[in-house]
Amino acid sequence: MTATELPASLLPESLRATLPGSAYTDPQVFALEQEKIFERMWFCAVRTSELDAPGKFRTVQVGRESVLVTRSREGAVKAFLNICRHRGARLCTEEAGEVKRAFQCPYHAWTYGLDGKLVAAPNLTSMPDVDRTTYGLVNVHVREWLGYVWVCLAEEPPSFEEDVIGAATERLGDPKAVDHYQADELAVGRRIRYDVRANWKLIVENFMECYHCATIHPELTEMLPEFKGGFAAQYYVGHGAEFAEEAQGFTVDGSAGVQRIPGVTEEQDRRYYAITIKPQVFVNLVPDHVIVLRMIPLAADRTVVECDWLFLKDVVDSGADLDRSVELFHRVNVQDFEACERCQPAMDSRAYARGGVLVPSEHHIGAFHDWVTARLSD
Ligand code: FES
Ligand code: FE
Repeated sequence: MTATELPASLLPESLRATLPGSAYTDPQVFALEQEKIFERMWFCAVRTSELDAPGKFRTVQVGRESVLVTRSREGAVKAFLNICRHRGARLCTEEAGEVKRAFQCPYHAWTYGLDGKLVAAPNLTSMPDVDRTTYGLVNVHVREWLGYVWVCLAEEPPSFEEDVIGAATERLGDPKAVDHYQADELAVGRRIRYDVRANWKLIVENFMECYHCATIHPELTEMLPEFKGGFAAQYYVGHGAEFAEEAQGFTVDGSAGVQRIPGVTEEQDRRYYAITIKPQVFVNLVPDHVIVLRMIPLAADRTVVECDWLFLKDVVDSGADLDRSVELFHRVNVQDFEACERCQPAMDSRAYARGGVLVPSEHHIGAFHDWVTARLSD
């Protein structure tokens, strides 16, 4: 695929500028993004299997808020703002844990059931004006998809079907294409957490383009020869990038992987698909596993990325060697995040005050910039 084969509607009239450097460094821009992007959209927070019993919980930073995600006694996933309704203490300070029956605030011991209701508070008989029913934890909207809990802080959340499922499937042609991978039934074979010293947008932009693939991803381009050309941006991998002829599986040395996911079709076999779900999720599909990256933006120059490698449960339970499968994309991650960290400090340079330039194969990064700009001015 060459640039001249781009659909005419996607051809830029001329080379266009990137966002200015300050968009990646200014805390005020980041605060605006927290408010207008991460706190308004669906945010992929937690792997459902992390909440495999009532009282298991995780806390996740979503925009400016800490969100507490847990499972109720009835088995439903619940999410709340992680803040005590009494005087505002942070309720859970751990990232993950388990409570028996309730969350108790460490400050004055107000106690909340797993459904968020205030169930006990010391000396309340002497405070008749405190109505326990109105001082429950603040609910956050939840949905489950691909085996993850997605939360939304907006009072009126946007359509999950359109913004998440629709956005994830639109490039794959078949709306059921993702379902074939049965991601909600897969087990986490490995999780690696990367603390990346870069703005979240640099990570999105990098994931969206493959102009860098030939330079920094020797193992990946060996596996997916199409990526050597640098034009295999997401637009093109809607059809899936084909494995190299000699590769037996999506592994670091091209050796055979593990058992194929049964739902994967013949057409999807021996192909790699990459999907971006704005604002903070990347999904990678290969025949025997699914790799999901969730970004948790913490500051203008810091983003935690949790990456899960998901395999068939039987494969994980059998103790099969997953190292060669994990190693390939782990290397890709490290190579990508190093590139983002290389750009981050330079965003402050006067050389980048008005931004840089996008080559034609990066037209979709331009579209991403337009999207961010429109969200912030909304
Ligand atoms: Fe939580 Fe007082 S702040 S009980
Ligand atoms: Fe990359």
